[in-house]
Amino acid sequence: MKNLNLLYEGKAKKIYEKAPDEVVIYFKDDVTAFNGEKKDSIIGKGRINKKITTFFFEMLEEKGIPTHMISDIDENSFLAKKVKIIPLEVIVRNYTAGSFCRRYGIEKGIKLEKPIVEYSLKDDDLGDPMICRNVVLSLKLVEEKVLNKIEYYALKINDILSQFLESKNIILVDYKLEFGISNGKVYLADEISPDTCRFWDKETMESLDKDVYREDKGDLIDKYSEFLRRVEI
Ligand code: C5P
Repeated sequence: MKNLNLLYEGKAKKIYEKAPDEVVIYFKDDVTAFNGEKKDSIIGKGRINKKITTFFFEMLEEKGIPTHMISDIDENSFLAKKVKIIPLEVIVRNYTAGSFCRRYGIEKGIKLEKPIVEYSLKDDDLGDPMICRNVVLSLKLVEEKVLNKIEYYALKINDILSQFLESKNIILVDYKLEFGISNGKVYLADEISPDTCRFWDKETMESLDKDVYREDKGDLIDKYSEFLRRVEI
């Protein structure tokens, strides 16, 4: 990685340029919460999140969701297609939790009648504000047909992952996706990991995700490793 050009460094990943249309996604051990107010480095976290992300991306690709992943590289990185990231966080919720409960004063853990798709504007300085579909379109952040495709993929991903995790006695509570565009085609980008999803044990409702860190309720590596064991990666 040392001789590659660093294109971007985020809170949990680094993106290096490998070729004009290819990047290396490197998963760091850094963990942050509350828009970077709480931060630490936890040895082994990057390796686990890379493993879970590539596992899910392969599964989704097989089921017809185009992802930016090209191939695995090593413990902490994979090779990906260079895409133009759409500046939206796409959040899908199956159960009430997190900011949804805070925003609406609702108890945590209620199953929603239908999955909800929400959007946030990716902007750390503004604190990633929630944005509705009409504002996304009127600000011309994406074309309507692209937004429709994103919503279709987000819900299809929900069906695939919820069903798979259900078979492992894990509830997919909610998660965040990012999408990118290359040559006019929409790709699932970024990651799918316990950093970006809420996973609850179906029997105990115990968190196997970053809430363990956000809420200081145990050892992050223990819980992420338990998730790995449970999904048999
Ligand atoms: O905090 P909130 O309840 O809105 O988060 C919903 C889901 O999106 C959670 O699974 C959380 O981990 C994920 N998320 C994320 N990155 C953000 C905001 C939320 O991965 N910047």
